[in-house]
Amino acid sequence: MASPQPGILAPLTPLARYASYHLIPGADPRKSLRALRDAADGDQTVVGLGLSLVSLLECGIDELRVFPEFSGFGLDVPSTPAALWLWLRGTDRGELYNRHRALDALLGSAFRADRVLDGFIHGGGRDLTGYEDGTENPKGKAAIAAAVSEREGIAGSSFVAVQQWQHDLSRYDAMSTEEQDHCIGRRRSDNEELEHSPESAHVKRTAQESFDPEAFVVRRSMPWAEGRDCGLLFTAFGCSFDAFEAQFRRMLGVEDGTMDALFTFTRPLTGAYFWCPPVKNKKLDLSALNV
Ligand code: HEM
Repeated sequence: MASPQPGILAPLTPLARYASYHLIPGADPRKSLRALRDAADGDQTVVGLGLSLVSLLECGIDELRVFPEFSGFGLDVPSTPAALWLWLRGTDRGELYNRHRALDALLGSAFRADRVLDGFIHGGGRDLTGYEDGTENPKGKAAIAAAVSEREGIAGSSFVAVQQWQHDLSRYDAMSTEEQDHCIGRRRSDNEELEHSPESAHVKRTAQESFDPEAFVVRRSMPWAEGRDCGLLFTAFGCSFDAFEAQFRRMLGVEDGTMDALFTFTRPLTGAYFWCPPVKNKKLDLSALNV
């Protein structure tokens, strides 16, 4: 029976490496995909396929679409689609690097890497601002219901929204502790949700039970830092993109003109959607693509 890639619902590993790829024009991706299918177990290496790749194989995954770009209220939110996305999970940076190199070699005849980013766990699961991230993630059966599709033909699949956010920590440091807590809507010191926070507070904008229908996702984000730059590699897994999009529209203030206070110190540099196929016998199940 097909089941979700285990890495999606498993606890985060201390380190990770994220890579996205574009297709080499004119190349046939089937051979590389077969090699990837046999090499990626969905646990240590989670795989997502983008719309350009799926449509080339002339197979429709109805839920898969392009990440919507947005400009308005002084904000530019980019859409940076890719054909393929890998999330390598592990504990040793050298091992991750070498595993990625081996996967690059398997993919090389049809794919070229665009972006590579290393992620890490900070403070037991905190964003670099110090706030705990993932507190309100659904757990157990609720996590499966939120993140895994039961639709016939693709049962066991998941859909992931990926955004690299870059923080301006100098801007953030210049805020008072109260302003910082009001941005998130939780107290950093004890992670308690604030009783009275502004409408712009992040957890008010995204409160999953407040949507109709309720909009639950499983977030598996990790901090990143390169040179002097840093931020959060945000990932949200859903049984479709609907819940993420409902949350993100509210963060942007599309409905009521109130923008999420997060935007005062951080902004997305990328945005892409991927279909994460199920696994069968510890291998990716690409039968929906006839691969
Ligand atoms: C730099 C970007 C972001 C940072 C630093 C961030 C940080 C946080 C923090 C600290 C929390 C509170 C603890 C928790 O429940 O996890 C939270 C909650 C949450 N965030 Fe974010 N987040 C970011 C982007 C996003 C985006 C883009 C979305 C979706 C569009 C999102 C969706 C959520 C949801 C659904 C919750 C839980 C709300 C609830 O039901 O209480 N976050 N985030």
